[in-house]
Amino acid sequence: MQILNGKEAAQAIKDALKIEVAQLASNGKEVPHLVAILVGNNGASETYVAAKVKACEEVGFKSTLIRFEESVSAFKLLETIRELNGDPDVDGILVQLPLPAHISSEEVINTIDPAKDVDGFHPNTVGKLVLGQPTFIPATPYGIMLLLQHYKIDTRGKHAVVIGRSNIVGRPMSILLSAAGAQGNATVTITHSHTVNLAEICRSADIIVAALGRPGFVTADMVKEGAVVIDVGITRVDDPLRKSGYRLSGDVDFGAVAEKASFITPVPGGVGPMTIAALMKNTYHACARKHF
Ligand code: GUN
Repeated sequence: MQILNGKEAAQAIKDALKIEVAQLASNGKEVPHLVAILVGNNGASETYVAAKVKACEEVGFKSTLIRFEESVSAFKLLETIRELNGDPDVDGILVQLPLPAHISSEEVINTIDPAKDVDGFHPNTVGKLVLGQPTFIPATPYGIMLLLQHYKIDTRGKHAVVIGRSNIVGRPMSILLSAAGAQGNATVTITHSHTVNLAEICRSADIIVAALGRPGFVTADMVKEGAVVIDVGITRVDDPLRKSGYRLSGDVDFGAVAEKASFITPVPGGVGPMTIAALMKNTYHACARKHF
């Protein structure tokens, strides 16, 4: 069994980007600028946005964090997005989800200029992804594809089972794995809460991507010997023994599944850092398109 070290693979991607950004700068070009919008003070969202801002610093991007109170009006948020859409100094716009219940995330996503949609959530972007046209790829599935690529895991003709059909992870993941390419061309089964015989379907998988947000859901009896197991789950579980009061738990029962898997991602340190690296790549592309 080999651990898929997302921290290491993400570092390699960030190191390569750092060189490209330095080249832009030495040619007198503007470096990429990511604007992240955070509404309210959800602990997990705070952590994710802080990690995104830190990664921007690491690779030499400019970043701006715009914070709003939980009570901000949809009007104000949409107005801010429109201003950023029109600002030539801004390359990528990201609104951290989830949003408070009084704001429609659909309306927010639809308002972001598709040319700055580095999260890859806008309907135009999703449409292009489905059609196999070049576009921004949502960061988590993009990061997973980059991780498979980093470890030269060939998915062609393999049976991939994706657990979860969210717009952010499961659905785009299933599209990417079934698309053409060395890390695609898989036969994909997308499963969800209504799937009958999930354990049996998982047992036939060469690759499992668990993205349902239920700690320890994928147990060893659901995994074929030699399968590649990608754990997207990252749930905060109460743990009074930790200073923070919680620990992070993946969707996979890591200890037992690791004994059967050929490759497995840890939580934390697997998919999470790759998501950030993928977002950095999207932001670089948003900027580079202007220059070339
Ligand atoms: N919330 C959970 N994942 C994501 C993501 O990839 N982007 C944004 N904006 N919010 C999220």
